[in-house]
Amino acid sequence: MEIQKAQVLLDKLLEEGLESAMSSGDENHFLFNSGLNYDSGCHKFCVFGEDFVIKFDRSASDHNCLAELENYYAAKQEGLEKFFTTTCFLTEIQGRTFIAQDRADIDEDEVEDLCYSYSGDYDPEDDETIYALCGCTPETERLVDFCQRYRINDLHSSNWGLDPEDKYVIIDYGGHHWDDDDEEEES
Ligand SMILES: Nc1ncnc2c1ncn2[C@@H]1O[C@H](COP(=O)(O)OP(=O)(O)OP(=O)(O)O)[C@@H](O)[C@H]1O
Ligand SMILES: [Mg+2]
Repeated sequence: MEIQKAQVLLDKLLEEGLESAMSSGDENHFLFNSGLNYDSGCHKFCVFGEDFVIKFDRSASDHNCLAELENYYAAKQEGLEKFFTTTCFLTEIQGRTFIAQDRADIDEDEVEDLCYSYSGDYDPEDDETIYALCGCTPETERLVDFCQRYRINDLHSSNWGLDPEDKYVIIDYGGHHWDDDDEEEES
């Protein structure tokens, strides 16, 4: 990661204010005008450097980035970190944890094609998705078990990317997307 570039980007985000930074889609948006790429999902806001991504939670009450960081270290302890894009802690500001990650290459169509040719189906919540992308090995079995334990269960095609060695890695693994608590709350 180009740490100095990350620092410049982070300074700019804070100078503009996080809420303003997140109001993307506006042509006067400072990120839009700076030529920087940014993206957001349901939980996180992401700003892209050439080979890294800075991520923070869209809502300060959501702690998905902290969960992602903790899950990376848990994966490391179990020797499974090669299946997850590298995450490191940047800073904590205004109740939000900022993380930096290695930027992976996203190709949603290829992910879906691989899943269809593996099992004739594509279900982001199904273990088959993990086997289709990571291979059928004992290590992948441990990964499947890890993802179940850490409730990393939202493995849709934009939550996977290719690392520099062209291996599939999970890039969105804060987990807890659809866990037992949510089901209890919904019922
Ligand atoms: N490490 C990364 N490398 C490349 N692109 C990334 C990376 N992390 C995030 N992105 C891009 O930013 C998008 C949003 O990030 P992420 O999936 O982590 O957020 P989210 O809010 O948790 O998403 P979701 O809507 O799946 O819950 C991703 O779909 C992807 O396109
Ligand atoms: Mg995502």
